[in-house]
Amino acid sequence: MRILGLETSCDETGIAVYDRDRGLLGHALYSQVGLHAEYGGVVPELASRDHVRKVLPLVRQVLDEAGVTTADLDGIAYTAGPGLIGALLVGASVARALGWSLAIPVLGVHHMEGHLLAPMLEPDPPAFPFVALLVSGGHTLLVQVEGLGQYRLLGETVDDAVGEAFDKTAKLLGLPYPGGPELARLAKTGDPARFRFPRPMTDRPGLAFSFSGLKTFAVTTLRRHQDDPTIRADIAHAFQEAVVETLAIKCRRALRQTGARRLIVAGGVGANARLRQRLAEVTVEEDAQVHFPRPEFCTDNGAMIALVGSLRLQAGERPDPELVATPRWRLDELKPPGPVRNV
Ligand code: KG4
Ligand code: ZN
Repeated sequence: MRILGLETSCDETGIAVYDRDRGLLGHALYSQVGLHAEYGGVVPELASRDHVRKVLPLVRQVLDEAGVTTADLDGIAYTAGPGLIGALLVGASVARALGWSLAIPVLGVHHMEGHLLAPMLEPDPPAFPFVALLVSGGHTLLVQVEGLGQYRLLGETVDDAVGEAFDKTAKLLGLPYPGGPELARLAKTGDPARFRFPRPMTDRPGLAFSFSGLKTFAVTTLRRHQDDPTIRADIAHAFQEAVVETLAIKCRRALRQTGARRLIVAGGVGANARLRQRLAEVTVEEDAQVHFPRPEFCTDNGAMIALVGSLRLQAGERPDPELVATPRWRLDELKPPGPVRNV
C-alpha cells in the first residue's frame, strides 16, 4: 500500500509518499517562514495562497524523487485539522480532486495524530503502549497511548502552548520569527547561574501545564536590566531551562502514574536539543526508553500524515465520503480505525 500525504494546516507545505513495506519513498517540505517573517507571525490568508502555489509542484517533485507515478498510489491522506481553515481547505481540496480522478481512497488525518506517530518513521519504531509528550506551537499535551486511535489525555496546558511561549518570549527578546529555534540558539550563550525562573505547576500534583507566567517573568526581568548587554541571552537560558525542567518533571510523573516504559516526544518543540538531552536523562533514571522523530519530522511535515493514512487505511478505516476540514479538533475525540468515520 502506497500513500501520498499532504500537510497544509499552517505555514508549511509538506508532501510525502509512504509505502507500507518499504517505508518513506520521498518527501519534501516548503516552509513559508520568509513570507510571514515581516509580520512576526503567520498571516492566514497569505498562508492559504502560498499553499495553492506550492502544493502541486511539490507533489510532482516528490513523486519524481520517489520514482512513482500517480498510477502507483493506493490512497491519499491529508491533514483535515486542527489548523487554519483556509490552509486546511487547500490540502483537502487537492487530495479529494486527485483521489477522485485516480479512483483511490482519500482520508482526512488529525495533525496531532501525525505528530504523535512520527517516531514510527524512524528505524527503531516504538511499540504500543506508550506515553506521548506533544509539544508544538498550538498544543502541549501528555497522552496515554494504548494503540492506534486509543488516546487518553493525561494533561494539557491551561494557557499558552509551549511553542507559543517560546515564540512570544523570543519576540520580546527581539528575535526574528519563528522564535523557538532562535531562542534556543541564544540560550547557549547565556549564563546558567544568573537567573532561575519558576517551574510552573510542579509544586502540586497533576499533569497540567501553564506557560504564560514564564513569559511575564521574562518581561519583568528584561525591564529591570534594560541596559545590560548579556541580559537577553541570560533570560533565554533561564526561560529554556524552566520550560525543559517543567516538561521533564511532568514526563517523569506521567511515566510513574501510568507504569508505561516508553516515552514518545513529538511536535515542533521536540526538535529542541536541550529538551531531548534532558528527557534522555530522565528516562534512563526511570528505566524507560525515549523515542524522538528526527528533528525535521518533529516540525510539520507530510511524512507523518502519509504514515497515519497508511496505518489507518491498512487497519480497515473507511475513507471519508466527503471533504473534511476541522479547524478545532481534539486528539482524544479520535477513535481506533474502523468502518465508522473518524470525525
Ligand atoms: O509542530 P510545529 O512545527 O507546528 C505546529 O503544529 O504548531 O511546531 C512549531 C513550534 C513553534 O512554536 C516553534 O517555535 C517551535 O515549534 N520550535 C522550537 C524549536 N523548533 C521549533 N521551540 C524550541 N526549540 C526548538 N529547537
Ligand atoms: Zn504541527
